[in-house]
Amino acid sequence: MPVRDIIIDTDPGQDDAAAILLALASPEEINVLGITAVAGNVPLPLTQKNARIVCELAGKTNVPVFAGCDAPIARKLVTAEHVHGKTGLDGPTLPDPVMPLCEQHAVDFIIETIRDLPAGTITLCPLGPLTNIATAIQRAPDIVERVQEIVLMGGAYFEVGNITPAAEFNIYVDPEAAEIVFKSGIKITVMPLDVTHKVLVTPERVKAMRDQKTPVCDAMADMIDFFERFDTDKYGSAGAPLHDPCVTAYLIKPELFSGRFVNVEIETQSELTLGMTVADWWGVTDRTPNAMFMGDVDAQGFFDLLTERLARL
Ligand code: RIB
Ligand code: CA
Repeated sequence: MPVRDIIIDTDPGQDDAAAILLALASPEEINVLGITAVAGNVPLPLTQKNARIVCELAGKTNVPVFAGCDAPIARKLVTAEHVHGKTGLDGPTLPDPVMPLCEQHAVDFIIETIRDLPAGTITLCPLGPLTNIATAIQRAPDIVERVQEIVLMGGAYFEVGNITPAAEFNIYVDPEAAEIVFKSGIKITVMPLDVTHKVLVTPERVKAMRDQKTPVCDAMADMIDFFERFDTDKYGSAGAPLHDPCVTAYLIKPELFSGRFVNVEIETQSELTLGMTVADWWGVTDRTPNAMFMGDVDAQGFFDLLTERLARL
């Protein structure tokens, strides 16, 4: 499998950190061209700082980090400190970053990188609200035919919502951006809650992480210990769902996942169902399929991969 050139667009977030660390630990499959921060779990000043903290934790300070949009396209920002804590990376005590934030705006970095590199060679990996990606598409429609694929974490169908009864957080925060992305015509692969709620970090899996006895695995286990309390209280589940690393795991071992190529549309009008990803899983409409919507995952295979790779850092 050729190495994928990717841009990670992210709102760290403990689970974003897991996704970034997995990518940075997997140079045989993934080349991270840059990390672009977006407002989401916590405001932009924190997500761009957290992205640099994670790069330094991984010892990969050569990866450029950019700050992007600080608010959704057409709405006020909704954040999730109740899940991720005040800093967005609550759990371990990690030093403030020393590596600099790049001057260039994240949206300009996305546009210029896609224009400068050969068409069809860049994968965008959004792990938060789709504001940066949609803004890039609006500003530079020519990039649409040049993007190899978008592999994103967001949405839900059988699992319904986690921030409202109908909507998953990343889509809910910026539904207008999601609509632009899903209508763009770019090849899209979606990791919805239907999949991420099957990768629960059980105590055995956290122990396996700690048993690696590395600073990165210890820090990740500390992040999980903090992050999981929200989901275990809410769902009574055996552990927290590790949403975002499903995206980077897919780039490394796609065979861990299965789903259907279906039509997915975004609710942007109804306040009741705002941000819902309406996936035509059963093909009951004549709407054109536009996304590979994942529905199942080999959870233990996912955790074995995540633990083995993070132990490398
Ligand atoms: O709904 C889960 C998603 O929202 C994850 O990406 C998490 O990091 C938050 O951004
Ligand atoms: Ca995220």
